[in-house]
Amino acid sequence: MSSSHLVPADDEVADFSSSPLLAKYPRHNMQEGAVIKVGVLGATGTVGQRFITLLVDHPWFVLHALGASPRSAGKPYASAVNWKQANRLPPAARDMLVNECKPEFFADCAVIFSGLDADVAGEIEAAFRAADLAVFSNAKNYRRDPLVPLIVPYVNPSHLAIVPHQQSAHAPPLKKGFIVTNANCSTTGCVIPLAALEKAFGPLESLLVTTMQAISGAGYPGVPSLDIMDNIVPFISGEEEKMEWETLKILGGVVKNDEGAPTFDMHARSPLRVSASCNRVPVIDGHTACVSVRFARRPPPSPQQVREALIAFTCDAQTLGCPSAPLHVISVHEEPDRPQPRLDRYYQDGAGVAVGRVRQCQVLDIKFVVLANNVSIGAATSSIINAELAVLKGVVPS
Ligand SMILES: NC(=O)c1ccc[n+]([C@@H]2O[C@H](COP(=O)([O-])OP(=O)(O)OC[C@H]3O[C@@H](n4cnc5c(N)ncnc54)[C@H](OP(=O)(O)O)[C@@H]3O)[C@@H](O)[C@H]2O)c1
Repeated sequence: MSSSHLVPADDEVADFSSSPLLAKYPRHNMQEGAVIKVGVLGATGTVGQRFITLLVDHPWFVLHALGASPRSAGKPYASAVNWKQANRLPPAARDMLVNECKPEFFADCAVIFSGLDADVAGEIEAAFRAADLAVFSNAKNYRRDPLVPLIVPYVNPSHLAIVPHQQSAHAPPLKKGFIVTNANCSTTGCVIPLAALEKAFGPLESLLVTTMQAISGAGYPGVPSLDIMDNIVPFISGEEEKMEWETLKILGGVVKNDEGAPTFDMHARSPLRVSASCNRVPVIDGHTACVSVRFARRPPPSPQQVREALIAFTCDAQTLGCPSAPLHVISVHEEPDRPQPRLDRYYQDGAGVAVGRVRQCQVLDIKFVVLANNVSIGAATSSIINAELAVLKGVVPS
Protein backbone atom coordinates (compact mmCIF):
# COMPACT_ATOMS: atom_id res chain seq x y z
CA MET A 1 0.00 0.00 0.00
CA SER A 2 1.47 3.39 -0.91
CA SER A 3 2.03 5.94 1.82
CA SER A 4 -0.47 8.29 0.17
CA HIS A 5 -3.17 5.63 0.12
CA LEU A 6 -5.05 6.87 3.13
CA VAL A 7 -6.69 4.29 5.32
CA PRO A 8 -6.35 4.18 9.08
CA ALA A 9 -3.66 1.81 10.32
CA ASP A 10 -5.10 -1.29 11.97
CA ASP A 11 -4.19 -0.05 15.42
CA GLU A 12 -6.10 3.17 14.72
CA VAL A 13 -9.40 1.38 14.09
CA ALA A 14 -11.88 2.50 16.70
CA ASP A 15 -12.73 0.24 19.63
CA PHE A 16 -16.47 -0.39 19.40
CA SER A 17 -16.78 -2.50 22.53
CA SER A 18 -18.68 0.31 24.24
CA SER A 19 -20.55 1.49 21.14
CA PRO A 20 -24.24 2.33 21.60
CA LEU A 21 -24.77 0.32 18.42
CA LEU A 22 -23.99 -2.84 20.29
CA ALA A 23 -26.57 -1.98 22.90
CA LYS A 24 -29.12 -1.37 20.15
CA TYR A 25 -28.25 -4.51 18.21
CA PRO A 26 -26.61 -6.93 20.62
CA ARG A 27 -24.01 -9.08 18.89
CA HIS A 28 -25.70 -12.25 17.79
CA ASN A 29 -24.15 -15.45 18.98
CA MET A 30 -23.78 -17.76 16.03
CA GLN A 31 -23.33 -21.14 17.63
CA GLU A 32 -19.87 -22.58 17.14
CA GLY A 33 -19.94 -24.63 13.94
CA ALA A 34 -23.56 -23.68 13.16
CA VAL A 35 -24.27 -23.50 9.45
CA ILE A 36 -27.00 -21.82 7.46
CA LYS A 37 -27.98 -23.54 4.22
CA VAL A 38 -28.23 -21.17 1.27
CA GLY A 39 -29.39 -21.39 -2.32
CA VAL A 40 -28.31 -19.31 -5.33
CA LEU A 41 -30.74 -18.44 -8.14
CA GLY A 42 -29.13 -17.37 -11.40
CA ALA A 43 -26.07 -19.30 -10.24
CA THR A 44 -24.61 -19.53 -13.76
CA GLY A 45 -24.62 -15.77 -14.48
CA THR A 46 -22.04 -13.06 -13.84
CA VAL A 47 -23.39 -12.25 -10.38
CA GLY A 48 -24.19 -15.91 -9.67
CA GLN A 49 -20.58 -16.93 -10.30
CA ARG A 50 -19.39 -14.28 -7.84
CA PHE A 51 -21.85 -15.67 -5.29
CA ILE A 52 -20.36 -19.13 -5.75
CA THR A 53 -16.81 -17.80 -5.32
CA LEU A 54 -17.72 -15.92 -2.14
CA LEU A 55 -19.91 -18.60 -0.60
CA VAL A 56 -17.66 -21.65 -0.90
CA ASP A 57 -15.43 -20.34 1.91
CA HIS A 58 -18.09 -18.56 3.94
CA PRO A 59 -17.91 -19.21 7.70
CA TRP A 60 -21.71 -19.42 8.22
CA PHE A 61 -23.37 -19.99 4.85
CA VAL A 62 -23.17 -23.36 3.12
CA LEU A 63 -24.07 -23.74 -0.54
CA HIS A 64 -26.98 -26.15 -0.59
CA ALA A 65 -28.91 -25.62 -3.84
CA LEU A 66 -28.34 -23.92 -7.19
CA GLY A 67 -30.86 -22.67 -9.74
CA ALA A 68 -30.75 -21.26 -13.26
CA SER A 69 -32.85 -21.34 -16.42
CA PRO A 70 -34.48 -24.48 -17.83
CA ARG A 71 -31.51 -24.51 -20.29
CA SER A 72 -29.15 -25.25 -17.40
CA ALA A 73 -31.44 -27.27 -15.14
CA GLY A 74 -30.59 -30.95 -14.71
CA LYS A 75 -26.88 -30.44 -15.46
CA PRO A 76 -23.97 -30.49 -13.02
CA TYR A 77 -22.87 -26.92 -12.34
CA ALA A 78 -19.55 -27.39 -14.15
CA SER A 79 -21.40 -28.32 -17.37
CA ALA A 80 -24.07 -25.64 -17.07
CA VAL A 81 -21.82 -22.67 -16.32
CA ASN A 82 -19.55 -20.74 -18.65
CA TRP A 83 -17.09 -20.01 -15.81
CA LYS A 84 -15.58 -16.53 -16.23
CA GLN A 85 -13.93 -15.96 -12.86
CA ALA A 86 -10.16 -15.61 -12.46
CA ASN A 87 -10.14 -18.32 -9.79
CA ARG A 88 -10.89 -21.95 -10.68
CA LEU A 89 -14.40 -23.24 -10.40
CA PRO A 90 -14.53 -24.35 -6.75
CA PRO A 91 -14.56 -28.18 -6.39
CA ALA A 92 -17.42 -27.89 -3.87
CA ALA A 93 -19.70 -26.48 -6.59
CA ARG A 94 -18.56 -28.48 -9.66
CA ASP A 95 -20.86 -31.46 -9.22
CA MET A 96 -23.83 -29.72 -7.66
CA LEU A 97 -26.94 -30.25 -9.73
CA VAL A 98 -28.48 -27.10 -11.20
CA ASN A 99 -32.22 -26.99 -10.56
CA GLU A 100 -35.04 -25.05 -12.07
CA CYS A 101 -35.81 -21.97 -9.99
CA LYS A 102 -38.75 -23.54 -8.15
CA PRO A 103 -39.13 -23.21 -4.38
CA GLU A 104 -39.53 -26.97 -3.82
CA PHE A 105 -35.87 -27.51 -4.76
CA PHE A 106 -34.78 -24.92 -2.17
CA ALA A 107 -37.12 -25.77 0.71
CA ASP A 108 -34.23 -26.56 3.11
CA CYS A 109 -32.50 -23.22 2.54
CA ALA A 110 -32.73 -20.49 5.17
CA VAL A 111 -31.39 -17.88 2.73
CA ILE A 112 -31.83 -17.51 -1.04
CA PHE A 113 -29.45 -15.29 -3.00
CA SER A 114 -30.83 -14.20 -6.35
CA GLY A 115 -28.68 -13.20 -9.33
CA LEU A 116 -31.62 -13.63 -11.69
CA ASP A 117 -32.15 -11.69 -14.82
CA ALA A 118 -34.77 -8.99 -14.24
CA ASP A 119 -36.98 -10.45 -16.97
CA VAL A 120 -37.68 -13.46 -14.77
CA ALA A 121 -36.80 -12.28 -11.26
CA GLY A 122 -40.20 -10.74 -10.53
CA GLU A 123 -42.27 -13.90 -10.66
CA ILE A 124 -39.61 -16.28 -9.37
CA GLU A 125 -38.63 -14.18 -6.35
CA ALA A 126 -42.31 -13.65 -5.46
CA ALA A 127 -42.86 -17.42 -5.58
CA PHE A 128 -39.89 -18.01 -3.25
CA ARG A 129 -41.14 -15.41 -0.81
CA ALA A 130 -44.63 -16.93 -0.91
CA ALA A 131 -43.00 -20.27 -0.04
CA ASP A 132 -41.71 -18.56 3.15
CA LEU A 133 -38.12 -18.26 1.98
CA ALA A 134 -35.87 -15.26 2.68
CA VAL A 135 -34.72 -13.80 -0.65
CA PHE A 136 -31.79 -11.40 -1.11
CA SER A 137 -32.15 -10.07 -4.65
CA ASN A 138 -29.88 -8.21 -7.05
CA ALA A 139 -32.62 -7.52 -9.57
CA LYS A 140 -34.44 -4.22 -10.00
CA ASN A 141 -37.96 -5.67 -9.81
CA TYR A 142 -38.79 -5.03 -6.13
CA ARG A 143 -36.50 -2.08 -5.37
CA ARG A 144 -39.37 0.41 -5.59
CA ASP A 145 -41.79 -1.72 -3.56
CA PRO A 146 -42.90 0.33 -0.52
CA LEU A 147 -42.48 -2.71 1.76
CA VAL A 148 -39.17 -3.98 0.37
CA PRO A 149 -35.96 -2.60 1.84
CA LEU A 150 -33.31 -1.48 -0.67
CA ILE A 151 -30.16 -1.98 1.33
CA VAL A 152 -26.54 -1.04 0.78
CA PRO A 153 -25.03 -2.90 3.71
CA TYR A 154 -22.65 -0.14 4.87
CA VAL A 155 -25.37 2.51 4.64
CA ASN A 156 -28.92 1.59 5.67
CA PRO A 157 -29.22 -1.82 7.38
CA SER A 158 -31.72 -0.15 9.73
CA HIS A 159 -34.21 -0.48 6.85
CA LEU A 160 -34.41 -4.20 7.69
CA ALA A 161 -36.90 -3.01 10.32
CA ILE A 162 -39.58 -2.96 7.62
CA VAL A 163 -39.32 -6.73 7.00
CA PRO A 164 -41.91 -7.75 9.66
CA HIS A 165 -44.42 -5.41 8.00
CA GLN A 166 -43.70 -6.93 4.60
CA GLN A 167 -44.35 -10.34 6.16
CA SER A 168 -47.58 -9.36 7.87
CA ALA A 169 -48.89 -7.54 4.76
CA HIS A 170 -48.40 -10.67 2.65
CA ALA A 171 -51.48 -12.82 1.99
CA PRO A 172 -51.26 -15.18 3.78
CA PRO A 173 -48.87 -13.62 6.31
CA LEU A 174 -45.35 -15.03 6.29
CA LYS A 175 -43.23 -16.27 9.18
CA LYS A 176 -39.80 -16.35 7.54
CA GLY A 177 -40.24 -15.27 3.94
CA PHE A 178 -39.39 -11.80 2.62
CA ILE A 179 -37.53 -10.00 -0.16
CA VAL A 180 -34.62 -7.66 0.50
CA THR A 181 -32.93 -6.06 -2.50
CA ASN A 182 -29.59 -4.45 -2.97
CA ALA A 183 -29.06 -1.43 -5.16
CA ASN A 184 -28.07 -0.90 -8.75
CA CYS A 185 -24.29 -1.33 -9.00
CA SER A 186 -23.62 2.35 -9.79
CA THR A 187 -25.87 3.59 -7.02
CA THR A 188 -24.06 1.37 -4.50
CA GLY A 189 -20.61 2.81 -5.25
CA CYS A 190 -21.87 6.37 -4.94
CA VAL A 191 -24.04 6.14 -1.85
CA ILE A 192 -21.24 4.71 0.30
CA PRO A 193 -19.11 7.89 0.32
CA LEU A 194 -22.29 10.00 0.32
CA ALA A 195 -23.48 8.23 3.48
CA ALA A 196 -20.08 8.89 5.08
CA LEU A 197 -20.43 12.59 4.25
CA GLU A 198 -23.99 12.82 5.57
CA LYS A 199 -22.90 11.05 8.74
CA ALA A 200 -20.11 13.58 9.29
CA PHE A 201 -21.60 16.80 7.98
CA GLY A 202 -25.38 16.43 7.85
CA PRO A 203 -27.67 16.27 4.83
CA LEU A 204 -26.66 16.80 1.24
CA GLU A 205 -28.73 19.19 -0.83
CA SER A 206 -27.64 18.48 -4.43
CA LEU A 207 -25.76 15.72 -6.19
CA LEU A 208 -24.43 15.58 -9.74
CA VAL A 209 -22.98 12.24 -10.82
CA THR A 210 -21.48 11.07 -14.11
CA THR A 211 -20.67 7.36 -14.36
CA MET A 212 -18.23 5.37 -16.48
CA GLN A 213 -19.64 1.87 -16.13
CA ALA A 214 -17.94 -1.42 -16.87
CA ILE A 215 -19.16 -3.88 -19.50
CA SER A 216 -19.74 -6.65 -16.93
CA GLY A 217 -22.52 -4.54 -15.42
CA ALA A 218 -24.65 -5.73 -18.34
CA GLY A 219 -24.11 -9.43 -17.52
CA TYR A 220 -22.59 -11.97 -19.91
CA PRO A 221 -22.00 -11.64 -22.86
CA GLY A 222 -23.28 -8.09 -22.33
CA VAL A 223 -22.56 -5.27 -24.77
CA PRO A 224 -21.36 -6.52 -28.19
CA SER A 225 -17.61 -5.94 -28.60
CA LEU A 226 -18.17 -3.93 -31.80
CA ASP A 227 -20.33 -1.50 -29.81
CA ILE A 228 -17.92 -0.98 -26.92
CA MET A 229 -14.33 -1.40 -28.22
CA ASP A 230 -12.80 2.00 -29.12
CA ASN A 231 -16.00 3.60 -27.88
CA ILE A 232 -18.17 5.08 -25.14
CA VAL A 233 -21.93 4.53 -25.13
CA PRO A 234 -23.63 7.52 -23.46
CA PHE A 235 -26.82 5.67 -22.57
CA ILE A 236 -27.71 2.75 -20.30
CA SER A 237 -31.42 2.10 -20.36
CA GLY A 238 -33.14 3.01 -17.08
CA GLU A 239 -29.84 3.55 -15.24
CA GLU A 240 -30.06 7.29 -14.63
CA GLU A 241 -33.58 7.04 -13.22
CA LYS A 242 -32.46 4.18 -10.93
CA MET A 243 -29.53 6.19 -9.58
CA GLU A 244 -31.73 9.22 -9.00
CA TRP A 245 -34.47 7.56 -6.94
CA GLU A 246 -32.53 4.67 -5.36
CA THR A 247 -30.17 7.21 -3.78
CA LEU A 248 -33.12 8.86 -2.04
CA LYS A 249 -34.58 5.57 -0.76
CA ILE A 250 -31.21 4.39 0.56
CA LEU A 251 -30.05 7.66 2.16
CA GLY A 252 -33.53 8.38 3.47
CA GLY A 253 -35.00 7.11 6.70
CA VAL A 254 -37.89 4.90 7.77
CA VAL A 255 -40.73 6.87 9.39
CA LYS A 256 -44.25 6.08 10.52
CA ASN A 257 -47.09 7.10 8.21
CA ASP A 258 -50.50 8.39 9.35
CA GLU A 259 -51.65 4.81 10.06
CA GLY A 260 -48.57 4.17 12.18
CA ALA A 261 -47.01 1.82 9.62
CA PRO A 262 -43.32 2.21 8.74
CA THR A 263 -42.57 3.79 5.38
CA PHE A 264 -39.52 5.05 3.49
CA ASP A 265 -39.19 8.84 3.67
CA MET A 266 -37.06 9.21 0.50
CA HIS A 267 -34.77 11.72 2.25
CA ALA A 268 -37.77 13.97 2.91
CA ARG A 269 -36.23 15.36 6.13
CA SER A 270 -34.01 17.42 3.85
CA PRO A 271 -34.83 17.27 0.15
CA LEU A 272 -31.95 16.07 -2.02
CA ARG A 273 -31.83 16.78 -5.76
CA VAL A 274 -29.95 14.16 -7.79
CA SER A 275 -28.93 14.32 -11.44
CA ALA A 276 -27.18 11.28 -12.96
CA SER A 277 -25.53 10.77 -16.37
CA CYS A 278 -24.59 7.17 -17.10
CA ASN A 279 -22.08 5.93 -19.69
CA ARG A 280 -20.84 2.49 -20.69
CA VAL A 281 -17.05 2.41 -21.19
CA PRO A 282 -14.62 -0.30 -22.38
CA VAL A 283 -13.64 -1.50 -18.90
CA ILE A 284 -14.35 -5.09 -17.88
CA ASP A 285 -15.03 -4.70 -14.14
CA GLY A 286 -15.34 -1.59 -11.95
CA HIS A 287 -17.74 1.32 -12.20
CA THR A 288 -16.18 4.79 -11.86
CA ALA A 289 -18.23 7.87 -11.01
CA CYS A 290 -17.39 11.59 -10.91
CA VAL A 291 -19.45 13.11 -8.13
CA SER A 292 -20.15 16.73 -7.12
CA VAL A 293 -22.13 17.53 -3.98
CA ARG A 294 -23.59 20.53 -2.22
CA PHE A 295 -24.15 20.31 1.53
CA ALA A 296 -27.11 21.86 3.33
CA ARG A 297 -24.79 23.24 5.97
CA ARG A 298 -23.02 26.53 5.41
CA PRO A 299 -20.11 26.89 5.30
CA PRO A 300 -19.52 23.47 3.74
CA PRO A 301 -16.67 21.22 4.88
CA SER A 302 -13.27 21.67 3.29
CA PRO A 303 -11.74 19.03 0.99
CA GLN A 304 -9.43 17.98 3.85
CA GLN A 305 -12.37 17.56 6.24
CA VAL A 306 -14.13 15.48 3.60
CA ARG A 307 -11.06 13.25 3.14
CA GLU A 308 -10.83 12.73 6.89
CA ALA A 309 -14.54 11.87 7.17
CA LEU A 310 -14.29 9.32 4.35
CA ILE A 311 -11.25 7.67 5.93
CA ALA A 312 -12.90 7.58 9.36
CA PHE A 313 -16.16 6.05 8.10
CA THR A 314 -17.27 2.88 9.86
CA CYS A 315 -20.61 1.12 9.74
CA ASP A 316 -22.84 -1.41 11.52
CA ALA A 317 -21.70 -4.24 9.24
CA GLN A 318 -18.24 -3.87 10.79
CA THR A 319 -19.24 -3.18 14.36
CA LEU A 320 -21.76 -6.01 14.46
CA GLY A 321 -19.21 -8.47 13.14
CA CYS A 322 -20.39 -9.39 9.62
CA PRO A 323 -17.74 -11.83 8.43
CA SER A 324 -17.72 -10.41 4.89
CA ALA A 325 -17.49 -6.74 5.92
CA PRO A 326 -14.15 -5.21 4.97
CA LEU A 327 -11.76 -3.88 7.58
CA HIS A 328 -11.88 -0.50 5.81
CA VAL A 329 -14.85 0.54 3.71
CA ILE A 330 -13.42 3.56 1.88
CA SER A 331 -9.85 4.08 0.79
CA VAL A 332 -8.94 7.66 -0.04
CA HIS A 333 -6.19 8.24 -2.58
CA GLU A 334 -4.03 11.33 -2.68
CA GLU A 335 -2.42 10.52 -6.04
CA PRO A 336 -3.94 12.79 -8.71
CA ASP A 337 -4.61 9.89 -11.10
CA ARG A 338 -6.47 7.43 -8.83
CA PRO A 339 -8.76 5.58 -8.44
CA GLN A 340 -8.46 3.52 -11.62
CA PRO A 341 -10.48 0.37 -12.40
CA ARG A 342 -7.47 -1.83 -13.20
CA LEU A 343 -5.61 -0.81 -10.05
CA ASP A 344 -8.35 -0.33 -7.49
CA ARG A 345 -11.31 -2.62 -8.25
CA TYR A 346 -10.06 -5.35 -5.91
CA TYR A 347 -9.63 -3.07 -2.89
CA GLN A 348 -10.68 -5.17 0.12
CA ASP A 349 -11.33 -8.04 -2.30
CA GLY A 350 -13.91 -5.90 -4.09
CA ALA A 351 -15.86 -5.21 -0.88
CA GLY A 352 -14.53 -1.66 -0.38
CA VAL A 353 -14.71 1.47 -2.53
CA ALA A 354 -11.85 3.72 -3.64
CA VAL A 355 -12.19 7.49 -3.63
CA GLY A 356 -9.77 10.05 -5.03
CA ARG A 357 -9.42 13.57 -6.37
CA VAL A 358 -11.31 15.11 -3.44
CA ARG A 359 -11.34 18.79 -4.23
CA GLN A 360 -13.40 21.96 -4.25
CA CYS A 361 -16.20 22.23 -6.82
CA GLN A 362 -16.70 25.71 -8.29
CA VAL A 363 -20.42 25.06 -8.89
CA LEU A 364 -21.47 22.91 -5.90
CA ASP A 365 -19.17 22.42 -2.87
CA ILE A 366 -16.97 19.33 -3.21
CA LYS A 367 -16.18 16.93 -6.04
CA PHE A 368 -14.46 13.54 -6.07
CA VAL A 369 -14.12 10.30 -8.02
CA VAL A 370 -15.33 6.97 -6.65
CA LEU A 371 -14.68 3.48 -7.97
CA ALA A 372 -16.62 0.37 -6.92
CA ASN A 373 -16.39 -3.22 -8.10
CA ASN A 374 -19.81 -3.63 -9.71
CA VAL A 375 -19.92 -7.42 -9.43
CA SER A 376 -18.65 -7.55 -5.81
CA ILE A 377 -19.84 -4.69 -3.61
CA GLY A 378 -22.13 -3.66 -6.51
CA ALA A 379 -23.89 -7.04 -6.40
CA ALA A 380 -22.96 -10.36 -4.72
CA THR A 381 -20.91 -9.01 -1.79
CA SER A 382 -23.69 -6.58 -0.88
CA SER A 383 -26.29 -9.36 -0.88
CA ILE A 384 -24.12 -11.57 1.29
CA ILE A 385 -23.42 -8.83 3.84
CA ASN A 386 -27.13 -7.93 3.84
CA ALA A 387 -27.89 -11.56 4.71
CA GLU A 388 -25.21 -11.54 7.42
CA LEU A 389 -26.79 -8.42 8.90
CA ALA A 390 -30.22 -10.08 8.76
CA VAL A 391 -28.81 -13.07 10.68
CA LEU A 392 -27.12 -10.84 13.27
CA LYS A 393 -30.31 -8.84 13.76
CA GLY A 394 -32.43 -11.97 14.04
CA VAL A 395 -34.40 -11.23 10.85
CA VAL A 396 -33.16 -14.58 9.51
CA PRO A 397 -33.25 -17.21 12.24
CA SER A 398 -29.92 -19.01 12.63
N1 LIG B 1 -23.56 -7.69 -13.54
C1 LIG B 1 -23.55 -6.76 -12.58
O1 LIG B 1 -22.55 -6.06 -12.35
C2 LIG B 1 -24.79 -6.53 -11.74
C3 LIG B 1 -24.70 -5.67 -10.67
C4 LIG B 1 -25.82 -5.45 -9.86
C5 LIG B 1 -27.00 -6.09 -10.16
N2 LIG B 1 -27.09 -6.90 -11.25
C6 LIG B 1 -28.37 -7.58 -11.50
O2 LIG B 1 -28.18 -8.95 -11.14
C7 LIG B 1 -28.97 -9.78 -11.98
C8 LIG B 1 -28.07 -10.79 -12.68
O3 LIG B 1 -27.16 -10.08 -13.49
P1 LIG B 1 -26.00 -10.84 -14.28
O4 LIG B 1 -25.13 -9.75 -14.79
O5 LIG B 1 -25.42 -11.90 -13.43
O6 LIG B 1 -26.85 -11.51 -15.50
P2 LIG B 1 -26.44 -12.75 -16.38
O7 LIG B 1 -24.98 -12.94 -16.44
O8 LIG B 1 -27.18 -12.56 -17.67
O9 LIG B 1 -27.10 -14.03 -15.60
C9 LIG B 1 -28.49 -14.22 -15.56
C10 LIG B 1 -28.85 -15.47 -14.78
O10 LIG B 1 -30.29 -15.62 -14.84
C11 LIG B 1 -30.59 -16.96 -15.25
N3 LIG B 1 -31.84 -17.02 -16.01
C12 LIG B 1 -32.12 -16.49 -17.22
N4 LIG B 1 -33.36 -16.81 -17.61
C13 LIG B 1 -33.90 -17.59 -16.64
C14 LIG B 1 -35.14 -18.25 -16.44
N5 LIG B 1 -36.11 -18.18 -17.36
N6 LIG B 1 -35.33 -18.94 -15.29
C15 LIG B 1 -34.37 -19.02 -14.35
N7 LIG B 1 -33.15 -18.44 -14.49
C16 LIG B 1 -32.92 -17.72 -15.61
C17 LIG B 1 -29.43 -17.36 -16.14
O11 LIG B 1 -29.36 -18.78 -16.23
P3 LIG B 1 -28.79 -19.54 -17.54
O12 LIG B 1 -27.29 -19.46 -17.48
O13 LIG B 1 -29.30 -20.92 -17.39
O14 LIG B 1 -29.34 -18.80 -18.73
C18 LIG B 1 -28.26 -16.77 -15.34
O15 LIG B 1 -27.91 -17.63 -14.30
C19 LIG B 1 -29.70 -8.86 -12.94
O16 LIG B 1 -30.98 -8.61 -12.44
C20 LIG B 1 -28.84 -7.61 -12.94
O17 LIG B 1 -29.55 -6.45 -13.28
C21 LIG B 1 -26.00 -7.17 -12.03
